[in-house]
Amino acid sequence: MTGALAAPPEITGAEFAAISALLYQRTGIRLVPGKETLVMGRLGRRLRQLGLDGYGDYVRLLHQPDGQELGQAIDLLTTNETSFFREPQHFDYLREAIVPAHPPGHILRLWSAASSSGEEAYTAAMVLLERPPAGSWEIVGTDVSTRIVAGARRGLYPIEAAGRIPPELLRRYWLKGRDEYAGLMAAGATLRERVRFRYANLLDDLRDLGRFDVILLRNVMIYFDLPTKAALIQRLQEMLYPGGHLIVSLSESLNGIPSRLRMVRPSIYRLPAGPHG
Ligand SMILES: C[S@@+](CC[C@H](N)C(=O)[O-])C[C@H]1O[C@@H](n2cnc3c(N)ncnc32)[C@H](O)[C@@H]1O
Repeated sequence: MTGALAAPPEITGAEFAAISALLYQRTGIRLVPGKETLVMGRLGRRLRQLGLDGYGDYVRLLHQPDGQELGQAIDLLTTNETSFFREPQHFDYLREAIVPAHPPGHILRLWSAASSSGEEAYTAAMVLLERPPAGSWEIVGTDVSTRIVAGARRGLYPIEAAGRIPPELLRRYWLKGRDEYAGLMAAGATLRERVRFRYANLLDDLRDLGRFDVILLRNVMIYFDLPTKAALIQRLQEMLYPGGHLIVSLSESLNGIPSRLRMVRPSIYRLPAGPHG
């Protein structure tokens, strides 16, 4: 006998508001009314896995003090779209303007501050390996989704993701998967040694990461409201060395956000250099 499949549970306005409030509190991401279908699309399977009939029970799970399920929900609700050499103008600027002007004898530190699955950080690493600064350098990639950070650390991508990686860089820094890895490419040791990934929430005080010469903050502020953006920029500017750069995506700007950063060109901002340069 075949039974009719149960219809997926519908989310009520109150349940949507509760999930959206929790996500906002924890990540700064605003889910505005109208995004109910998106939430059901992303959480529906999780409800089925957990054997829950409705979002009311799920909201109760999200409030549990261990925060376990909230972490899972954040993994599912964040939008992680990214690619290698996305907005390549920024990597041209890194290679042609930032690296040559970097003072010799100082380590160059770059932070991919919403690194998603790691493509942005690995792209920066390829650029710096090809055009290294005079001194040493390192790259840190962070994201609020623990699942996506684990994926970035593995450094495994479908071959099709290689898209914009120039062929000679692909040959130099990537391995082609075989057997169970067929169809995948893996970041080689040279690349992996240069990039460190860890969980970090941009709403938190992240000064323990140290200071940076370059912060890539691309395609994440779009999910935040103005007060959240303003507070974030205040904190991040304190994490730049004098003369350091903060780069947002080409579709974003710091217009209307008070800060000491000065626009060098659209989407590229710089903290004025101190008395030493
Ligand atoms: C669209 S991706 C951008 C990836 C990359 N920066 C780029 O431009 O291609 C946005 C990333 O921001 C992360 N994110 C959202 N809120 C965050 C927060 N509060 N702290 C850290 N990362 C956050 C998401 O998990 C997601 O991986």
